Amino acid sequence: MISLQSITKSFGTFQALDGVNLEVPAGTVQGLLGPNGAGKTTTVRVLTTLLEPDGGDASIAGHSVRTQGDAARRSLGVSGQYAAVDDKLTGLENLTLVGQLYGMRRRAAKARAQELLEHFRLDGVPMGQRAGSYSGGMRRRLDLAGALVARPPVVILDEPTTGLDPRGRRDTWDAISALAEDGTAVLLTTQYLEEADELADSIAVIDGGRIVAEGTPAALKAQAGGSHIDLAFELSDAVPAARAALSRIGLEVTADDLSLRLSATAPRRQESLQAALNALAEAQIEVVEASLRQPTLDDVFLKITQRPAGVRAVEGSATGPSTQHFDAPAREEARP
Ligand SMILES: Nc1ncnc2c1ncn2[C@@H]1O[C@H](COP(=O)(O)OP(=O)(O)OP(=O)(O)O)[C@@H](O)[C@H]1O
Ligand SMILES: [Mg+2]
Repeated sequence: MISLQSITKSFGTFQALDGVNLEVPAGTVQGLLGPNGAGKTTTVRVLTTLLEPDGGDASIAGHSVRTQGDAARRSLGVSGQYAAVDDKLTGLENLTLVGQLYGMRRRAAKARAQELLEHFRLDGVPMGQRAGSYSGGMRRRLDLAGALVARPPVVILDEPTTGLDPRGRRDTWDAISALAEDGTAVLLTTQYLEEADELADSIAVIDGGRIVAEGTPAALKAQAGGSHIDLAFELSDAVPAARAALSRIGLEVTADDLSLRLSATAPRRQESLQAALNALAEAQIEVVEASLRQPTLDDVFLKITQRPAGVRAVEGSATGPSTQHFDAPAREEARP
């Protein structure tokens, strides 16, 4: 239902998309996960026909975004990174208008609008309150509802839960899951592994305009090394000493930095944490904070790109990252 084939896009000399391929079947949620500047919104803009790619093609429900833009647009609902609602209209008016723009009859559009306002808990807003005076999270939810009014077969959501409170996030997750169950193909961009984990059937990690990893959430997390231990110290000497102590008991240190923190893998979770604390105590290294946590996007990034999220690859580096597939045996790397 959503297909990208070798999409490239440059802004001046800057290559924002560098050969992106992606396929999203009906009834599935595809997560597109990446740090700031990775190319997520640029991908969304290409798919929604707001931006013409330099190379490659993309299609929505079989309609090329290059040559069949009208048909592609009719098949998709979108909620952009920044809420686009009409400030002068009420929530109900906004959604009804969107429905009518999709060709729905006014009565049907209004009924659908009412249903969505209830789902996104916007039905308690006083009658006649204009969207211009909604809070940030309310605007976001209204914009999301707008993407769903016409029940399009393809829904594209650019960071749909950024800025939402926990309840708003939960409502949104429920709505997205329900969409996929009804057969909709959903592309969802996010910076949060947790969100992709909750919703996505498959995740593509994008970085520097390239898909650098693809797989199920479980496979990606497993690649990041399962659970992690985070430790903080008071003295800078403690970091290398702790690194050595943890290595001695077989824990892999995955990150340390100048802020006196260190992370290590915890293959046996609580037992690993216990062992780490014992080893540090024996070496008389004072710990000021210790915690056990699930892997984060940062861990996935470190593992895949050998650098923290948000740091771009060196321009023109000899070998760009090739896509890693985590649900299948590692691919043979093509030699140039
Ligand atoms: N119109 C434009 N002109 C110049 N550069 C652009 C333009 N649009 C995007 N870029 C650049 O392309 C890169 C990718 O931007 P994009 O908006 O796709 O990132 P993103 O993954 O959505 O990030 P975020 O998580 O911050 O929203 C960035 O470096 C950005 O500066
Ligand atoms: Mg963006």
